[in-house]
Amino acid sequence: EELPEDVGSDDCLASYTHIYSPDLLKDQVAFITGGGSGIGLRFLIICPVLVEYYLCAAVKLSAASGRRCLPLRIDVRQPDGIAAAVDETLKEFGRLDILINNAAGNFLCPASALSFNAFKTVLEIDTMGTFNTSKVVYEKWFKDHGGNVVNVSATLAYRGQALQVHAGSAKAANDAMTKHLAVEWGPSGVRVNAVAPGPISGTEGYRKLGGPAAEAAGSFQAVPLQRAGNKTEMAHCALFLASRASSYVTGAILVADGGAWLTSPND
Ligand code: HXC
Repeated sequence: EELPEDVGSDDCLASYTHIYSPDLLKDQVAFITGGGSGIGLRFLIICPVLVEYYLCAAVKLSAASGRRCLPLRIDVRQPDGIAAAVDETLKEFGRLDILINNAAGNFLCPASALSFNAFKTVLEIDTMGTFNTSKVVYEKWFKDHGGNVVNVSATLAYRGQALQVHAGSAKAANDAMTKHLAVEWGPSGVRVNAVAPGPISGTEGYRKLGGPAAEAAGSFQAVPLQRAGNKTEMAHCALFLASRASSYVTGAILVADGGAWLTSPND
């Protein structure tokens, strides 16, 4: 199977072959947390849309695509900062169509060595951060206009992955939140879905969670698709969930891990 174009660094793609219509998100505006690097940045690059992310990403993206982008620095743990950023986005673009809750923090650590504050910090970024941003965007725009929320999840909790009690607990809570909000906000025309990536090359998570070592040791042979995923593949999943391509899908968690969680050793 032919894979979509990828680049391991946080640079724009040298070329990109659209697999959806280039007009799929025409005139739409997306608010993406954690869009400064990794999967979040790749989503920006292949989408004909706007943005939240850091200045260097904005400059690169504008130069590559000619699209408008507004780099905003926020901490998803601070609701006031999110509210100000959403206000600024609405002032600049006059609408908001998509929210991608992509910001996350993680590291490998056994539960016995994990401080109380470390556990709390990851929950605050991943879980409270997703709730804070979703609620602000809903109150300020989606409640009256509809919209699409895409949460970036993980498969860690499916089997209780070792060294990941913090991130696994956080993402499991987010999967529950995805369903709760899908139920409550569906009548307002808001769809809430999640994509759950496996090991994705060229990301902070891949570097921090042992991806290169696993690759060198040939461990990906145990994954049904026998390789790590790439950022463009994750962006395609998010694009499906964020667009009318998935118009009757809500409360769903799209596992996009090459089958990894089914077969990978848990150590
Ligand atoms: C153990 C750690 C630690 C580590 C930090 N802590 N790093 N404990 N091992 N490697 C502890 C600190 O000692 C501290 O506890 C507490 O966590 C908070 O740390 P701070 O540095 O004060 O927090 P902060 O500056 O807010 O940083 C948050 C962070 C950081 C999560 C710790 O790594 C971060 O911001 N990362 C963002 C980028 C990132 O990680 N992206 C990858 C996401 S990958 P004490 O008790 O000492 O005060 C991902 C994918 C998962 O999510 C699924 C993959 C398949």
